[in-house]
Amino acid sequence: MTVSRVPFIDLLRFEPGFLETVSTRVNSALKEGHFVSGPEVESCRKALLENSRSTSLALCANGTDAIQLALRAAGVKTGDRVLIPNMTFWASFEAVVNVGAEPIPIDVEWDTFHLSLARIEEAVAKFSPQALLLAQLYGWAAPETESIRDYCVAKKLMLVEDSAQAYGTLLNGKSVIGEAPVATTSFYPAKVLGASGDAGAVFSKDPKITELAARLANHGRLDHYEHGWVGWNSRVGVYESIFLEESVKHIDARLASRRKVTELYRRELSGLPLEFLSPPKGVHENGYLSVARIDAELRPQLIDFLKSKNIGYGTVYPGAMSRQPGAKEWMKHSLDTGTADRIARSVLNLPCFASMTDHETGYVIDTVKTFFKTRV
Ligand SMILES: Cc1ncc(COP(=O)(O)O)c(C=O)c1O
Repeated sequence: MTVSRVPFIDLLRFEPGFLETVSTRVNSALKEGHFVSGPEVESCRKALLENSRSTSLALCANGTDAIQLALRAAGVKTGDRVLIPNMTFWASFEAVVNVGAEPIPIDVEWDTFHLSLARIEEAVAKFSPQALLLAQLYGWAAPETESIRDYCVAKKLMLVEDSAQAYGTLLNGKSVIGEAPVATTSFYPAKVLGASGDAGAVFSKDPKITELAARLANHGRLDHYEHGWVGWNSRVGVYESIFLEESVKHIDARLASRRKVTELYRRELSGLPLEFLSPPKGVHENGYLSVARIDAELRPQLIDFLKSKNIGYGTVYPGAMSRQPGAKEWMKHSLDTGTADRIARSVLNLPCFASMTDHETGYVIDTVKTFFKTRV
């Protein structure tokens, strides 16, 4: 089969019968008058609990709310200082501000694109923060995740792991989300496990945390008109829950097909000036993203070439948190050594999605090889 176009991501590769099953279930739920909560949401929660190998979980409206709920439930208060990686999605920064705390971006490492324990220790000594929001990015877990968890316990530093990109990722054979003291994820449709719209979840080894998160996500309710906390409305809808629960049934195959793509890129494109990063030791990636870096001057040329061949690409992420225009007003401190910026200028992501065909991966690989053959 000849391929002449590969999008960066394609969300329409549904398994046979998937949409029909979702539609039938949605029709029945609507006929029963189930809109926001109800048995479908609880059934989805249970399926996710089992699949994520976690102790407890609360569903909510999206991944950003999940971080806010988790920070609040873990005990982060107004005015607290929260360390965040300087290279992450902006929602990590927003969530800290939205709970009234102060985000302190600290730099990630050039080799791993993640925070290191040494940098966290430096920031703790400098800023005396109350919490750390550790982002588990690119379908991996940060190297030293286990040591970072131990360090946070020893230092009484609240730890929330933003695992929006790490659903299904394993660390030393165990679920990254399931082993975290408190973790969050996003079920935004483009994630490895996506809903039909927005949805998210808070996970914890301590059920008291997820119970509080669930209450905060439902107006702080103790009872229908009795409110124990000022929360907000972060409930998840029935349609999203049904779609999500049906997607869980296919998650193993979806992750396997994504992992195949990232592994093929690494193997077939090794030795080129496009250097693919590998997950840290002990991490079994979920295949969320293919992450490579290239000389900053060469990147626009490769991007133009990919565009001319109808190949999508990403630059996740194109800017550091500390340099975002919206950060100025909220950021009083940072530990910015310029590494996140350097990464932003050189990172490149090739197409990667579930059910991407071998022909499509082959077309991307051949195109990248042709680019370097004609230039180097
Ligand atoms: C690292 C990270 N944190 C938080 C979020 C926010 O999730 P949502 O878009 O569901 O609010 C995302 C989603 O893109 C993310 O990648």
